[in-house]
Amino acid sequence: MTGHGDGNADADGGPARHVPVLLGEVLEALQPARGGAFLDGTFGAGGYAAAILKSHPDVRLTALDRDPSAIAGGQALVAASGGRLQLVEACFGDMEQAARDLALPPLDGVVLDIGVSSMQLDQAERGFSFRFDGPLDMRMASSGESAADLVNGESEERLADIIYHFGEERRARAVARAIVAARKEAPILTTRALADLVARVVRADPNGPHPATRTFQALRIAVNDELGELVRALHAAERLLAPGGRLVVVTFHSLEDRIVKQFFARRQGRGGGNRFAPSLAPVAAATFTAVTRNPVTASQNELRANPRARSAKLRAATRTDAPAQDEDGDVTSLAMLPAPTGRRAR
Ligand SMILES: C[S@@+](CC[C@H](N)C(=O)[O-])C[C@H]1O[C@@H](n2cnc3c(N)ncnc32)[C@H](O)[C@@H]1O
Repeated sequence: MTGHGDGNADADGGPARHVPVLLGEVLEALQPARGGAFLDGTFGAGGYAAAILKSHPDVRLTALDRDPSAIAGGQALVAASGGRLQLVEACFGDMEQAARDLALPPLDGVVLDIGVSSMQLDQAERGFSFRFDGPLDMRMASSGESAADLVNGESEERLADIIYHFGEERRARAVARAIVAARKEAPILTTRALADLVARVVRADPNGPHPATRTFQALRIAVNDELGELVRALHAAERLLAPGGRLVVVTFHSLEDRIVKQFFARRQGRGGGNRFAPSLAPVAAATFTAVTRNPVTASQNELRANPRARSAKLRAATRTDAPAQDEDGDVTSLAMLPAPTGRRAR
């Protein structure tokens, strides 16, 4: 299992291979070999989960996934776990509710491997990829608004904002204009129809990804509220972890990595104000200490075996015994995102 979210799996080397990304590095940062209670918020194909269970006979793992097909696919691992794995269909943004429902103890570790799975990318009917023609869906869960609902229902301005901020697409305004013009003729219902439309507006870079890559990424992030989910999960993990517990997050694009980096910086007592305008707010006691100072990326060996690992970044921190902090100041909506660096929407 791998696969992360640019919808550009052709360039990534073809069909799904179930290879978890940065697995050794995740285990080193999470330290499940201590034993204890762990939560995997992104079960996927169960690559991390199987390795966590194997690392110590007394590890107990709760794994979540919002995709019902991931839950169905994990039942064999549940059966083989001797009662040590429980697998729950839920969003990781709701992990606190899940922990309450399941009466979980304070956790020794939480891991998140954010993004879309290879299975999701490679099933045409899920509508994540322009490599196949399929319905314009992109929902990881089985409910909620689809990409077709967004593309055919949102205002031109909001579509442009989504494509600009979540896709970092410079031609966002032109893409949104073309979408609105096309849907006046007929609704845009398939991945191929959208990809062809974007390709008419965004010039193809012969050495770059497909011109629709950034637009597809943006719609997927919006459909699944991926940034909001991540922010909610970081705060929930802060409240659920026991002192000494580890939070390990693997991300695949810069917006997510920035959210994780800034969260850890603030929780380690950094990042308030700047050198010209230092924050006057009292500094709250650090709730995390760094495990990784810089993001961990895939080794050359891993990249050779799995090119999809190329944009993976791992950050990890250890929970202190200070009380969890308020949720102020985190990006939770489009309006709070800074403009992509050095770019103006056209
Ligand atoms: C990259 S895969 C995880 C792969 C996994 N680490 C493995 O080793 O097989 C990401 C998974 O997270 C799930 N997912 C993404 N966002 C989620 C969310 N907000 N809540 C729960 N699951 C989510 C996706 O459905 C997908 O199955």
